[in-house]
Amino acid sequence: MAHVEDQGGTRRDFLYVATGAAGAVTAGAAVWPLINQMNPSADVQALASIQVDVSSVEPGSQLTVKFLGKPVFIRRRTEAEIEEAREVPMAELKDGLSRNPNIAADADAEDQNRALDETGEWLVMVGVCTHLGCVPLGDAGDFDGWFCPCHGSHYDTAGRIRKGPAPENLHIPLARFVSDTVIELG
Ligand code: FES
Repeated sequence: MAHVEDQGGTRRDFLYVATGAAGAVTAGAAVWPLINQMNPSADVQALASIQVDVSSVEPGSQLTVKFLGKPVFIRRRTEAEIEEAREVPMAELKDGLSRNPNIAADADAEDQNRALDETGEWLVMVGVCTHLGCVPLGDAGDFDGWFCPCHGSHYDTAGRIRKGPAPENLHIPLARFVSDTVIELG
């Protein structure tokens, strides 16, 4: 497991890359016997869910895991980040949809429809800019969320596009808590 720490800010942005079944990320073992038996392509095998232990993620920091070939940001937001996201009037959003496959497809982009839990502490998003696919930087940009330096897209603390060429909010993956400290993706 690689571990990269960005020393640039006061808040920390961790990157974990899952290369095996050990450590913070484990493969969804229960799914394996069946798909192995069907002799699927490597792509299909990669669809197995993963579980991520988030017990060590402090408020104001995020974990990045690689899932289905893409980075997934798992952020534990501070009260201030949650408040900032919840105060934004819907009319100010460029993309009014939640982009959250865990809820109704036409749900709006209010913060409660983006966060993983009711308190809003956890935000899980695919870390791929909806413009042309760069990986946005955390704790950055004009809206205190994420910034994509490729062409200047700014996302807020709920990962919603607020400025720049990206057309959509950062997408949310299928995700759920399976215990107090473990999030399952997929
Ligand atoms: S890819 Fe992010 S702004 Fe263009």
